[in-house]
Formats: sequence, structure tokens, C-alpha cells
Amino acid sequence: MNPQAIRAQARPLELFAAIEPELRQVEAALEEALATRDRLVGEVSTHLLRAGGKRIRPALVLLSAKFPGSNPEKVIPVAVAVELIHMATLVHDDVVDNAHLRRGQPTVNAVWNNQVSVLTGDYLFAKSFALLAETGDPRVVRLMANVVYEMSKGELVQMASYFDVDQTEEDYLRRIAQKTGYLIAESCRLGALVAGAKPDQVEALYQYGLGIGLSFQIADDLLDFMGQAETMGKPVCGDLKEGILTLPVLHALRHPRYGEELRRLIQSRSIGDPEVQRVREILEAAGSFAYARRLARQYLDAALAHLDRVPELASREVLRTLADFVINRQF
Ligand code: IPE
Ligand code: IPE
Ligand code: MG
Ligand code: MG
Repeated sequence: MNPQAIRAQARPLELFAAIEPELRQVEAALEEALATRDRLVGEVSTHLLRAGGKRIRPALVLLSAKFPGSNPEKVIPVAVAVELIHMATLVHDDVVDNAHLRRGQPTVNAVWNNQVSVLTGDYLFAKSFALLAETGDPRVVRLMANVVYEMSKGELVQMASYFDVDQTEEDYLRRIAQKTGYLIAESCRLGALVAGAKPDQVEALYQYGLGIGLSFQIADDLLDFMGQAETMGKPVCGDLKEGILTLPVLHALRHPRYGEELRRLIQSRSIGDPEVQRVREILEAAGSFAYARRLARQYLDAALAHLDRVPELASREVLRTLADFVINRQF
């Protein structure tokens, strides 16, 4: 299948068939949330909405809310808010990472400029919190504010550790929890919470989401080395060039045979295509890709174990299948 066909298949993901009507409601509500008469704001919003995305986070809100007696009217706005936060972080992230392609489309910073991106990200964050506040449930606002707080710290910490060959795997794991894991975990927790699930069910879904979120980012970091830009709809091989050291790199830095060469390469701070190619060979030879894949698998297994605690959840099987998607995905 060609890359575009793989991406086209992604909307909506086949595995979300059970919640397709609700996902359509989310889509409509997203459009409504971003509807405006202001020209520039409207143009940027339309650009973002047309680009789509996998909608994994709102899907997780919906799927985690499938408890008996749940009220969809309460769940949809939370799902929309979660996707708006995700969109905001992507718009900002593409400025930080200096990226020009996202979801198969030119980024906001590429079409307009960084200033427009900064303000658009803020606009999306603000809109999201307005929606969360409208639920009238202060827990929802408090939990999501904390996610954004952690995410901002994670991004700053990441920036402070560009090209830092002495950072540890523990540093990496904390950072990916902050930038990706907590938002995915919170999507699950909030779905269960607004559906009126019991505290231990809510906690089980949070833990499930955290495992999924960590593996999701490890997989993303692997795809940065192995994926195709056309299939991913975003640039590849960018992390290392920007100085972001991900799990396979940190693993190989400790390798007795390859560690020193890799350290020198990174410390040169000038990494182009030939250097990335060499690093790829090193990571393959050092077993670092296999190592990262194994760790992602472990987090998924831990995530799946938490689902045993929610037999009442009607969507449990879909959440199980999602774990396979996370590890096998190409986009
Ligand atoms: C991209 O997230 C950012 C990461 C956390 C790796 P997604 O892969 O969910 O992006 P979209 O929403 O499908 O574009
Ligand atoms: C996820 O990390 C960033 C956010 C949480 C916004 P990446 O920087 O790896 O995400 P991509 O690869 O650009 O989607
Ligand atoms: Mg990025
Ligand atoms: Mg990435």
C-alpha cells in the first residue's frame, strides 16, 4: 500500500468503528468550537481541522466512558477539549522542533509564521479550558491544568538537555511521561470520571493510559528513525539533528563497543543525513532498536493488565486492540 493510502485509512482508525457516531459528534463539536468570523483565526482553524489526525486521545475519552449509565452529553465536550489541547501542543511543538510538515500538511509555522503559531497554540489552549470549565466539574479542570503544567516542564527540560550525552534513561522516561504519557492517561481517566465510574475503575484506566502513552512515545521515537515521512505525515530523522536523544540512542551510548563513537558524533552537534545514517547503523548493531521495542512492549503489557480491573467497561476489547496498534503503527 502506498504511504498516502495508509494515511487515508487512518481516518477514522478502523479500530474505532464502535465509536464512529460519537467520533463524528466530536468532529462536529471541534468545528463548532473553532468557528469564528475573524479571518486569520478562521483560516488557521480550518487549516488545522482539515489536516485531521488519528484522534486517539478523544477516542480514548469516549472508550473509557463506556460504563453502564454513562451520559454521552457530558463526555463529548471533554473529548473535544482533549483534542484541542493536543492540537495546541502540536502547533507549539512544530515551532520548537522547527518542523514544516504535520499530518501530511505544511505546519502553521510553515504556512504563516512562528508568531501565528504561538498565538494559535494559546488560543487553542484557552478554548479547551473554557470547554472544560463549562462541564461545571472542577476536578476536570484541575487535572487537565496539571497535565499542561507537566507538559510545559517536560518540553523545557527536553530543550535544556539537547545533545546532553550524560542524561539517563530515567530522565528520558520522566520526560516522555510529561510530554505525552500524562495527556493520554488523563484522556482515559477523565472519560471514566465523567461517566461516573468508581474510583478504582478510574485509577485502572489512568494506569492503562499511562502505559499506552509511554509506549506511544517510544514508538514515535523509533518511527523517527525508521518511519517514512510520507506515511507519518511529518518529518523523520529530525530528533537527533535537533539534539533530542531518545531511548535507542541512550541505550547505545552505554554500549561498550559503540558508546564512544556515538558520544563523539553527538557532541559534534552537527548531525546531517550521513551522520544519522551512521547512528542508525550503530543503533541496529548495538541492539538498541530491539531494546526500545522491548521496553515499549513491557509498558503495553502493564497497561493491558490494568484492564482486567474493569470488566464492566463495554469497550474493553477495543482498548486491548489499541495496544497492538500502538506498537505496530507506521504513522
Ligand atoms: C503526535 O501525536 C505527537 C506525539 C505525542 C508523538 P499523534 O501521533 O497522536 O498525532 P496525530 O494527532 O495523529 O496527528
Ligand atoms: C511529542 O513529541 C510532542 C508533544 C507532546 C507535542 P515529538 O516532538 O516527538 O512529536 P512529533 O514527532 O513532532 O509528532
Ligand atoms: Mg516534534
Ligand atoms: Mg516525534
